[in-house]
Amino acid sequence: MRLENKRVIITGGSTGIGAAVASRFLEEGARVAVWCRNPDNAKAVETELPALAHVAAVDVADPDGVDLAFAQSLERLGGLDVLICNAGISLRRSFVDIPREEFDRVMRVNVHGVFYVSQLAARHMLAQEQGGAILMTASTSGVMAYRHYADYNASKGALLSLMRTMAVELAPRVRVNAVNPGYTMTPMQEAEYSPEMLARVNGIIPMKRHARPEELASLYVYLASDEAAYASGAVFTLDGAESVATGAAYL
Ligand SMILES: NC(=O)c1ccc[n+]([C@@H]2O[C@H](COP(=O)([O-])OP(=O)(O)OC[C@H]3O[C@@H](n4cnc5c(N)ncnc54)[C@H](O)[C@@H]3O)[C@@H](O)[C@H]2O)c1
Repeated sequence: MRLENKRVIITGGSTGIGAAVASRFLEEGARVAVWCRNPDNAKAVETELPALAHVAAVDVADPDGVDLAFAQSLERLGGLDVLICNAGISLRRSFVDIPREEFDRVMRVNVHGVFYVSQLAARHMLAQEQGGAILMTASTSGVMAYRHYADYNASKGALLSLMRTMAVELAPRVRVNAVNPGYTMTPMQEAEYSPEMLARVNGIIPMKRHARPEELASLYVYLASDEAAYASGAVFTLDGAESVATGAAYL
């Protein structure tokens, strides 16, 4: 019970990494609110995790929706100690073919959405004596140039920059950190793979496999807990050594 009595909001918490984090946080004694975009997903996660304190169907790129969901979650949780900005989208397209509206959408969800929610959370946490922690799911994309993901890579790079400035401005009361997952087997990834592509990607990861969402959840438990009291302004990479391997390492 490493998160007993922690009150937590997780965006994008109905599937993939966010769902694994929500389920593990409940096991660790946290009170958890999950936000998801799709109302069907909201119903499904409510059934799957009946211990959740609140489930909101909200688009994080819609500031009015975010204001409403935040007020509702705060009321249902009785406050907020930890925010996990995990919602995100990625669309695969070569740089020259990205439509302007698609670039805007990726930025609005992956960057503006995090700004909207984390600013509300920061104001709330700064006003309480015990402060709080804000965690963001960024990506190795924020530091590496993955082909055909120019918009996504740029959005995650922006997120890492936002995290650093927030960590400096909100210290010492509020800790802010980012997690950079490498390839993780979630619905977002699965949707993009043929069996051949999966084998090829596994082949270039030194650990020879994708991360499991549960492995990310363990890192989030640590970062949200009081054991991480001195961790702020940092990027925690969990990628099976992929981002430190050079081209020569693949030979
Ligand atoms: N899977 C990977 O390999 C990988 C690697 C690095 C980073 N990430 C990041 O991890 C996070 C979670 O992704 P995942 O892999 O679990 O995939 P996923 O598609 O299962 O999860 C993304 C979640 O975000 C939600 N979401 C999307 N747009 C939203 C919006 N506008 N408003 C509210 N919620 C919205 C989706 O409903 C979904 O639940 C994302 O930020 C993603 O960029 C994933």
